[in-house]
Amino acid sequence: MKKYAKYLFPIFLFSTNAYAKEDISFGKLANGQEAFLYTLKNNKNTEIKITNYGGIVTSIILPDKKGNISDIVLGFDNLQEYVKNSPYFGSIVGRYGNRIAKGVFHLNGKTYKLATNNGVNHLHGGKVGFDKVIWNAKKFESKEGKGLELNYTSKDGEEGYPGNLKINVKYVLTDNNELKIYYQANTDKTTIINPTNHSYFNLFGSGDILSNKLMINANYYTPIDSVSITTGKLEKVAGTPFDFRKPKYIGKNINDKNTQLSYGKGYDHNFVLNGKIGKLKLAATVTESKSGRKMEMYTTEPGLQFYSGNFLDGSFKGKNEQVYKNRYGFCLEAQHYPDSPNKPSFPTTVLKPNQTYKQLTIYKFGLM
Ligand code: GLA
Repeated sequence: MKKYAKYLFPIFLFSTNAYAKEDISFGKLANGQEAFLYTLKNNKNTEIKITNYGGIVTSIILPDKKGNISDIVLGFDNLQEYVKNSPYFGSIVGRYGNRIAKGVFHLNGKTYKLATNNGVNHLHGGKVGFDKVIWNAKKFESKEGKGLELNYTSKDGEEGYPGNLKINVKYVLTDNNELKIYYQANTDKTTIINPTNHSYFNLFGSGDILSNKLMINANYYTPIDSVSITTGKLEKVAGTPFDFRKPKYIGKNINDKNTQLSYGKGYDHNFVLNGKIGKLKLAATVTESKSGRKMEMYTTEPGLQFYSGNFLDGSFKGKNEQVYKNRYGFCLEAQHYPDSPNKPSFPTTVLKPNQTYKQLTIYKFGLM
């Protein structure tokens, strides 16, 4: 708190109802834009902090079975670290979360060329995706809980995408200990869209995530090629390391000899969720026995990217001086399947001017 003290005075002076005491400046970008850090609390002693830079969830503080609190997401202490080089810690990614092969897709007879930022491919919205911009932010209270509403307008042509896209994201923390994320978007030209949240979880709060136990509600996953582009096929999880239909330690099969695991350097794959697109369904559950913490995830999306933190290599020093080593966090990203714009058999990610894009994803926290 202390190190932000110098920012408190001007905020109090101009404070409106939108700011509570705990909402403070998070620093400024090189272009002078200021980012803020907002705090949501509920009656379960859960405290979530979110910045309007990239819509990043910077911390989720939760009690364990003994009442001791820890932060169960990876991130940095300050804005500068997020700006300098973050592997999408906690952010809203888009327009298109995940990869588009060679950054190319076709729509209504036109070819669109997107920014490429992952070898030859487009990843998570390109060079300056939704994770690297300042969103307009406003706190609110609804009958569901306390929330932060974020708005961003992505201009026609931004990162190569067609259409002016207006996107609205609402984070709500309920007294039921759920973090609900509502997404809504509209465009003035036909475009593609696939936003998600890229939080890295670690239910114990430190160390590797191999003994976090995971269930994924999926009978199929989408295999990838050597540069992590989906092949277009759906493959049964049965009899493979991708079978998480019953809860299993993340570490159980992660080092098995398996071509798919070698392509991803571990798990970095999209699972085809059982259930209907647009209907809220259980996507995954995670438990960690030492802390007794549990997380359930629900989504209206058809897919779930499970990423086991394979590219973390000890080069990021995060909050409280923690060095994030290999597999110290995992991501569960609600999404459409990777490279859908080039895979006609996958559910569509096209958004037309007369349509509204909607997604609801819920992370529900509790004890085992
Ligand atoms: C996603 C991708 C991974 C990796 C991380 C960020 O989960 O699928 O391959 O790029 O983001 O490091």
